[in-house]
Amino acid sequence: MLILGRMHITLKQLQIIEAVVQTRSYTLAAERLHMTQPAISMQMKQLEHNTGLILFERQGKRIVLTAAGQDVHQHSQQITSNYNDLIEAIREAKDLHTGRIKVSAATTANHLITQMIANFSKINKGIKVALKITNRERLVQQLQDFEPDIVLMGEPPSKLDLVSEQLIMNPLFVVAHPEHVLAKKNNIPLKEIAQYEFIVREQGSGTRAAIERFFKDRNEEFKSTLEMGSNEAIKHAVTADLGLGLVSLHSIKLELEADKLVILDVNQLPIKRFWHIVKRKGKHLLPAAKQFQDFMIKESKAYEESYKVFLKK
Ligand code: PGA
Repeated sequence: MLILGRMHITLKQLQIIEAVVQTRSYTLAAERLHMTQPAISMQMKQLEHNTGLILFERQGKRIVLTAAGQDVHQHSQQITSNYNDLIEAIREAKDLHTGRIKVSAATTANHLITQMIANFSKINKGIKVALKITNRERLVQQLQDFEPDIVLMGEPPSKLDLVSEQLIMNPLFVVAHPEHVLAKKNNIPLKEIAQYEFIVREQGSGTRAAIERFFKDRNEEFKSTLEMGSNEAIKHAVTADLGLGLVSLHSIKLELEADKLVILDVNQLPIKRFWHIVKRKGKHLLPAAKQFQDFMIKESKAYEESYKVFLKK
């Protein structure tokens, strides 16, 4: 309710102005607003009394705006339209079938998250999912800024207040060109593989950090030659026989199927990492986002199944 000195204007009164202007009749406006005709005319009388303006006049059977009424109507139209937008936005946000979800995922989870969104969108056509793919370092920044609803990433950062749930395993393997000297060798010792130079992801990548940690924990040196900003670039370099890669199984399915890359049989490998669904503590998930989160958990199991064949090779 707007109160200016003695001037009281309610949203209901503004909605009545709108309905009367559109229908040119108190009776039809009353029907539209599910009110009685006397209630409508009483509200308008009260508004005219409170504002000190005559807003409507009768022209035969029609009710039309006076000049002062037209001025008031111009503003009330804007307010009722904004109010209707607000109601629509609230309805959308609450409605399971028309919500919007902001998802961010690690570069390495690109294939997994895209598959999840594609399958989710097939059965939830009204829900819009906006996806951002970036490396771990930038995901942490986004979480810090409360930007995404849900994040799919490797280890959740410990320095932020988060809620996380572990999903499926994200195994990292050494990959090589099919003609590489080690391609057919079994049980390659980690020491031997550590003699080779690797093509690696950029600083800030979670995969890179995990690999360096893995070698350090085993007192082995990890040597790198080329540094690449994406898994795609690493795969291209390895298929061009420029060196070895140590990458997520989830990023090399097509290359393995096409025999463009092979997984080397290295002792102590794969490096066992896990995907996590992460959100900021206190970030309220709307129904659509909660539904997507449940879907991710279910879908990831099917995804893991589809990779079992490569784990046995
Ligand atoms: P990234 O992702 O290597 O693409 O940064 C993995 C992770 O989040 O740890």
